[in-house]
Amino acid sequence: MKDYEKLSREHFDGMADNYAATDGLYYTELPKLSCDEIMRRCEGIKIGSLLDVGCGSGYLLSLLAAERPSARLCGLDISPKMLAHAAKKLQGAAGVTLKEGGAGELPYADGEFDAVTCVMSFHHYPYPARAVTEAFRVLKRGGVYILSDVDKRGMGEPGEEEFAFYTADDAARLLADAGFKVEEKFRLTPKSFYVSGRKP
Ligand SMILES: C[S@@+](CC[C@H](N)C(=O)[O-])C[C@H]1O[C@@H](n2cnc3c(N)ncnc32)[C@H](O)[C@@H]1O
Repeated sequence: MKDYEKLSREHFDGMADNYAATDGLYYTELPKLSCDEIMRRCEGIKIGSLLDVGCGSGYLLSLLAAERPSARLCGLDISPKMLAHAAKKLQGAAGVTLKEGGAGELPYADGEFDAVTCVMSFHHYPYPARAVTEAFRVLKRGGVYILSDVDKRGMGEPGEEEFAFYTADDAARLLADAGFKVEEKFRLTPKSFYVSGRKP
């Protein structure tokens, strides 16, 4: 099999400067729309700790850090250059830590987080079921997983560093198989979906 992690690292390292300068907008508006939707839906909900898997240049973490200065916020990404931009953007935000790593083996303990988010990153993972199982593992009981990604129906063929595209139904099935109780499932735009599930 192709080494998707290596391909993604090279791809996103290569575009990190441009991506970070526009919060991804120069590339596509989809990540920003998903992050803004997460912020709207999480408004007023208590979240003490959150892990953003595939955090990129840190757009979602920066919104969360501004709104929830006392929360413990963690970001993980396979691309060191995207993480370097995230670190710059989040400079001075207490309670934020970033790590380099892959979504298939989260470097966190069982039951650490109230929430795990994953925005526009999942379609790069060569281990989709494992990525969901890992999110389940690091969540506390009652914790929520939010997965927003490109919708297969609005996309063409996956690019070189993209493993597969999914619909909201496909993603919901992956969440249910991992043990999540699916709570929300909808098409956010013609090219993206939003799915959330709770760990019982
Ligand atoms: C389109 S960007 C989205 C970044 C961010 N979530 C946002 O909303 O702007 C996809 C991110 O997923 C990361 N990524 C790709 N494959 C990954 C993997 N296997 N594990 C962790 N991160 C990965 C990339 O490095 C990149 O930063």
